[in-house]
Amino acid sequence: MMRKIALSATSALVLASGAAMAATGAHVEFTDKAFAHEGPFGKFDQMQLQRGLQVFTEICSSCHGLKYVPIRTLADPNGPQLPADQVRAYAAGLDAVPLADGEERAREWTDHFPSRAGDGMGPDLSLMAKARAGFHGPYGTGMSQLFNGMGGPEYIYSILTHFEDNPACAPEGIDGYYYNSAFPNGGVPDSCKDEHGISTVPGSWIAMAPPLMDDMVTYADGTPATLDQLAEDAASFLYWAAEPKLMARKQAGFIAVTFLVVLSALLFLTNKKLWAGVKGKKVTI
Ligand code: HEC
Repeated sequence: MMRKIALSATSALVLASGAAMAATGAHVEFTDKAFAHEGPFGKFDQMQLQRGLQVFTEICSSCHGLKYVPIRTLADPNGPQLPADQVRAYAAGLDAVPLADGEERAREWTDHFPSRAGDGMGPDLSLMAKARAGFHGPYGTGMSQLFNGMGGPEYIYSILTHFEDNPACAPEGIDGYYYNSAFPNGGVPDSCKDEHGISTVPGSWIAMAPPLMDDMVTYADGTPATLDQLAEDAASFLYWAAEPKLMARKQAGFIAVTFLVVLSALLFLTNKKLWAGVKGKKVTI
């Protein structure tokens, strides 16, 4: 019976991952990055989150919203931890909030980040780092996330750093799209498909123009703003935006595990003591 269950569970897993692969069609190239927040004791790097906020504000926010993220969380512990007056000033500098009667009012730090909609705008990034982790993320099953720490931030980092020249099979590419060897869900020209319609190139074509270049921003902390650094900082910031309670969860998990270990030891000893009288003797019938 157990064997049967195990067998069907395994085949279900294999089928599910097969289906996930089939849905994306193409294989993709991802880069694993050792982010500061990874591992059981990893913590968000406050300076990196501040740099990521800067990249988001100066570059990404022209096309992407963060509509589920309250601006005040920029002051939270374990976040970018900006001083309250800076957060207020930051909020005031963002787009005004449209009101029902066609009027506008200045954005307050108690509001959320602005949203973006319309032609050429990208999807909202509030939850992107979570949406693209695990099952929808790099390698289909979420196992990679569990064992290798590869998930949403790596996905975003990889998309930002894997823009490449059009491959030889489609030198003209697709009009209005850009070739990206890490993007799984875009179109692929027929000339880059084999006789079964399977793509022969990694990744696909994305509607986002390469947003980052070396030295596009000037970091206040003097960190050299290479493309790689900008991408890593943006990915880390967007992961914090999607998982602002990551540190608190890790802490609660650590306390729970310690508690369970102590409780198990006590129960084991209690159990031994309770049964000592019975187990110690040889029972003769
Ligand atoms: C000029 C506008 C523009 C800018 C600037 C821009 N993006 Fe995009 N982005 C887009 C569009 C359009 C899409 C949708 C692409 C598609 O689905 O083909 C997109 C898609 C994305 C995706 C989603 C990929 C997916 O899996 O669906 C991510 C992540 C992303 N952008 C991150 C960023 C980051 C981070 C920045 C800043 C460094 C940025 N973008 C700057 C327009 C932009």
